[in-house]
Amino acid sequence: MTEKRQSIHGQWSSRWAFIMAATGSAVGLGNIWRFPYITGEYGGGAFVLMYLACVLMVGIPIMMAEVMLGRRGRQSPINTMESLSKEEGLNPAWRYLGWMGVVAGFLILSFYSVVAGWTLEYIFHAGSGSFLTATDGEISEAFDRLLRDPGQLLAMHTLFMALTVVVVAMGVRSGLERAVKVLMPALFILLLIMVGYAMSTDGFQEGVYYMFYPDWSKLSAEGFLAALGQAFFSLSLGMGAIMVYGSYLPDDASIGHTTVSIVLADTLVAIMAGLAIFPLVFAYGLEAGSGPGLIFVTLPIAFGQMPYGQVFGTGFFVLLLFAAWTSSISLLEPAVAWLVENRGIARPKSAAIAGLIAWTLGIGSVLSFNLWQDYRLFGKTYFDIMDYVTSNILLPLGGLLIAIFTAWLMSRKAVVAELGLGEGLVFQSWLFVVRFVAPVGVVVIFLHAIDII
Ligand code: PHE
Repeated sequence: MTEKRQSIHGQWSSRWAFIMAATGSAVGLGNIWRFPYITGEYGGGAFVLMYLACVLMVGIPIMMAEVMLGRRGRQSPINTMESLSKEEGLNPAWRYLGWMGVVAGFLILSFYSVVAGWTLEYIFHAGSGSFLTATDGEISEAFDRLLRDPGQLLAMHTLFMALTVVVVAMGVRSGLERAVKVLMPALFILLLIMVGYAMSTDGFQEGVYYMFYPDWSKLSAEGFLAALGQAFFSLSLGMGAIMVYGSYLPDDASIGHTTVSIVLADTLVAIMAGLAIFPLVFAYGLEAGSGPGLIFVTLPIAFGQMPYGQVFGTGFFVLLLFAAWTSSISLLEPAVAWLVENRGIARPKSAAIAGLIAWTLGIGSVLSFNLWQDYRLFGKTYFDIMDYVTSNILLPLGGLLIAIFTAWLMSRKAVVAELGLGEGLVFQSWLFVVRFVAPVGVVVIFLHAIDII
């Protein structure tokens, strides 16, 4: 075996710090904004089940593989893939897997920042108490008005991107650990309160039924792909975010346990978000499949009606902003780590350059809600395309290649040594899943969605 590498970017102070950071990356708009709206678009229960199956059968094993590759390579995903492939006597073109992740990161961050900008805007709305007096109609009108205002969207997108760049410039470790330790539990508690409120409405039963009763007739091949895409998106997999965080993981930390904790936390938050939102959708006679605005029209109605709604509402959007923030920094980190390693550019400048690229790409998403809303491809706007192409194509493709590299190409000795599971049943099961179940699953879902099988 080659000598243990060291990351030039430093290391997490402990396994716990890594769990916090990776959970911070995983839990974000994907759980609270995207999960409910995609579930609504694909019809509820059957989608949720497919989602859970994808998390279990594809998400967990691939996250373990991604963390393992990162820790072994100890560099940006591009250089990690190159070093590992050379070490294994494989074609160094595997570095393009790292490149694909960097591109996916830019594309995701570009629209992610726009949605995080809506969250920023809603902190002000909630704080001003405007939800308290507004009717349901006025609340959804306010959201539409925001979307029609490119200047405001751009301002919020810019502000959020600047926040992201600042943290990445300081190095993802400083501050992040402390912030996540307090904010994640706080977000969790607020979500619990929201679920509690949802229980008190007369839509609760219907909401729970909608989320957990699988109506298989609603499950399309498209929906299956969307469930897979959502699993990758929500767990931050397939683009190197988890790989780069893994590259800062101490050598003695158990990858298996760590992964399971992260996945559990992420899934729990998504389910709670669904339980907080769908009952409201039914109680207020809203449309479950109304798209990306779902939480921005349902939750404000609830905040307008519940006791202390102004406090809870402001708190909720602040915490959502932080959740988005701890995710967005992980979207930028792979590119920044590469700029520092290969171009020798100082971290702050690298962060600014990468942020500028993502910001520029995001302008298209800003405009897709107003000036460019009629420019469509297959009926999809620029924003829809960014979201679809990254979640449903690039991330699963990245995951597929990670699975192939790890389970088929890397030497077993290296995998066993780095994973630290021994060679017993747990290892064998993991290997089986990464070899067969995950790749075949991804390929079948892909082919099914494009109507080949
Ligand atoms: N997982 C994050 C969320 O759910 C988004 C993300 C995707 C972050 C891919 C990093 C990489 O909000």
